[in-house]
Amino acid sequence: ARVPRGPRLPPGYASVPEWWWWWWWSACVPKGFNITWSSINFKTILRWQPKPSDYFYTVEIHGQTSDTQKKCILTAETECDVTDVLRNVRETYTAHILSVTSLRMDNFEEPPFAVSEKFTPYNQTILGKPEIQNYTQKDSELNVVFKDPLTPYTFPNGSFQSIRDIFKHDLQYKLYYWKDQSSGKKDAITKSHKFEINVDSTKNYCFYVQGIIPSRRENRGGQESVVLCTSVGRSILDEYGAEVFIIIAVIAIAIITLAVVLSVILCKRKKAKPAREKEPLNGV
Ligand SMILES: *[C@@H]1O[C@H](CO)[C@@H](O)[C@H](O)[C@H]1NC(C)=O
Ligand SMILES: *[C@@H]1O[C@H](CO)[C@@H](O)[C@H](O)[C@H]1NC(C)=O
Ligand SMILES: *[C@@H]1O[C@H](CO)[C@@H](O)[C@H](O)[C@H]1NC(C)=O
Ligand SMILES: *[C@@H]1O[C@H](CO)[C@@H](O)[C@H](O)[C@H]1NC(C)=O
Repeated sequence: ARVPRGPRLPPGYASVPEWWWWWWWSACVPKGFNITWSSINFKTILRWQPKPSDYFYTVEIHGQTSDTQKKCILTAETECDVTDVLRNVRETYTAHILSVTSLRMDNFEEPPFAVSEKFTPYNQTILGKPEIQNYTQKDSELNVVFKDPLTPYTFPNGSFQSIRDIFKHDLQYKLYYWKDQSSGKKDAITKSHKFEINVDSTKNYCFYVQGIIPSRRENRGGQESVVLCTSVGRSILDEYGAEVFIIIAVIAIAIITLAVVLSVILCKRKKAKPAREKEPLNGV
């Protein structure tokens, strides 16, 4: 536990007991631990432990060049959305999680705090799922059109910036594709919004898209989009499988058998009828 500096009575404390209480409190109050940054598409949440009982937390964000900024002042939560104070995305930040009693005391004495690991949004935010807008498979060409994920940051005109607006040429997208029901995956890279791939025109393909930043050492690949499949060369057998054919065959055999049995019975009746019709005649 941190011991406050010096035995002087800090300005603002009305009495020695009040100061003494603060001294005791700051030595005993729990400090935050297990501080984690979680950031997707530049939306960044700071989380820590433990849940506060009879005190609060305040988050301080320290940049290298920017002024210290406070967020989530006197919160009873153990998480804080710090997105809007990390706007300078190439800067490296650290967070201080302050354990505090009330606003008044924080202004006189530095409260106990825990320090997070360093965080550089540009290098560490995770790329979110790209959204696939449109795809076609025509002849031997597979076309996939997708959209850049948006960030929480806006242009001066109010529209949201996409991850491409921030990463520019550092951003690429990777398409993973494979023949439906096979496991051999291929991939392709683009810096635009679409993929045009040569494929086997008679086969169906499945695929997904992932953003990547090749210059990164960590978190190079982002979240994967949903998997979609084309349905051009899809025969009834591909779609429903062999089971349906067996069922259809069984039903067909049953119908044929029934037809044969019925015709045999009907034939026997036809032969029997004329014999019965003769009887009354004989009796007359
Ligand atoms: C640390 O925090 C993470 C995420 O909040 C959690 O999953 C993990 O269990 C915590 N670790 C410990 C040792 O409490
Ligand atoms: C999808 O792609 C086709 C062919 O490339 C195009 O004609 C169509 O307008 C696209 N639809 C949308 C919603 O982008
Ligand atoms: C806002 O500005 C950006 C960049 O200047 C531009 O790409 C975007 O189209 C603009 N949006 C609107 C709705 O005008
Ligand atoms: C961010 O990543 C780039 C490229 O890997 C590297 O040159 C730079 O030093 C990194 N910045 C920080 C603060 O880690």
